Amino acid sequence: MMTDIATLQTELMAAIDSADTLDALEAVRISALGKQGSVSALLKTMGAMSPDERQTQGPIINGLRESVTAALAAKKAALETAELNRRLASEYVDMTLPAPETPRGTVHPVSQVMDELAEIFADMGFAVAEGREIEDDWHNFTALNIPETHPARAMHDTFYFPDEMAREGSKMLLRTHTSPVQIRTMTSQEPPIRIIAPGRVYRSDSDATHTPMFHQIEGLVIDKGIHLGHLKWTLETFLKAYFEREDVVLRLRPSYFPFTEPSVEVDVGYSMVNGKRVIGGSEGWMEVLGSGMVHRKVIEACGLDPDIWQGFAFGTGVDRLAMLKYGMDDLRAFFDGDNRWLQHYGFDALDVPTLSGGVGA
Ligand code: PHE
Repeated sequence: MMTDIATLQTELMAAIDSADTLDALEAVRISALGKQGSVSALLKTMGAMSPDERQTQGPIINGLRESVTAALAAKKAALETAELNRRLASEYVDMTLPAPETPRGTVHPVSQVMDELAEIFADMGFAVAEGREIEDDWHNFTALNIPETHPARAMHDTFYFPDEMAREGSKMLLRTHTSPVQIRTMTSQEPPIRIIAPGRVYRSDSDATHTPMFHQIEGLVIDKGIHLGHLKWTLETFLKAYFEREDVVLRLRPSYFPFTEPSVEVDVGYSMVNGKRVIGGSEGWMEVLGSGMVHRKVIEACGLDPDIWQGFAFGTGVDRLAMLKYGMDDLRAFFDGDNRWLQHYGFDALDVPTLSGGVGA
């Protein structure tokens, strides 16, 4: 075991040393510290160790992780400096060029889609609620029926703040989903409640379809006598309005979220048109939403009586909804700030979404 670790360390150090581009270095990082990485695999073995074993192996494995992390950071800094020097040497501004046309900004597709969603839900009587991006453990997890020991906490890849920043015994973190807005709304407003909450969320995850920051929208209805039928109608009405098609077909699948019971995952049907997936019909299915009836424990945690108040909640990715409607295929481009991308996919500031004009017209 020890020699294996030593060999792995030598190999990783050599790979870091010979990575001569940032991309190559990132590939080494993912191979070591990514979800499926070799060092992550070693860290995972610690869970199954006896306490004695953990006492001897833990420091060795953690030491490996620390030295690999440090070597990666040092190499990254060196490569970035080299890259900057190269650019400074090769790029220059021709001061004799004429002034450009007045630059015209565009509305980012994420903002446009959030406005479309606010418009659609306003028509159904939903107000827009806001929470906090810097949340505490209680709102992000505990009140949502995800106690300290719940495996869902590990699945969320949370960015925590240092322990010293804890408030009232609750660790601070970057919210991993918009669901804490459910809690903030139920603890500050009297039911009946009908809100949506769009906003940024954060998870320590990065590849072609995951970025460390992305956008979600949460929906919450709390009233008397609410049932799954209300949820289904709301989602169907929303998705038809959003995709601007009457032939949107939903498929509800039983699922699990700690804060809803029963929980339902929602797929929308698509058809193949000229080799591309187009929403509508039912040739294939794409998952778009998580939802369910708000768990009694969540209602109780907010100080409401679950025998009187019931409701449903749903959550979905705004970036993904934008990609499905407007045809982008790489999530990372959303956050590059590349003007060519923004000119192509962005919206005119006067293109205000309205239901009568077709939300995305
Ligand atoms: N918060 C869940 C997620 O991030 C989505 C969800 C919201 C599911 C509300 C059910 C109800 O995956």
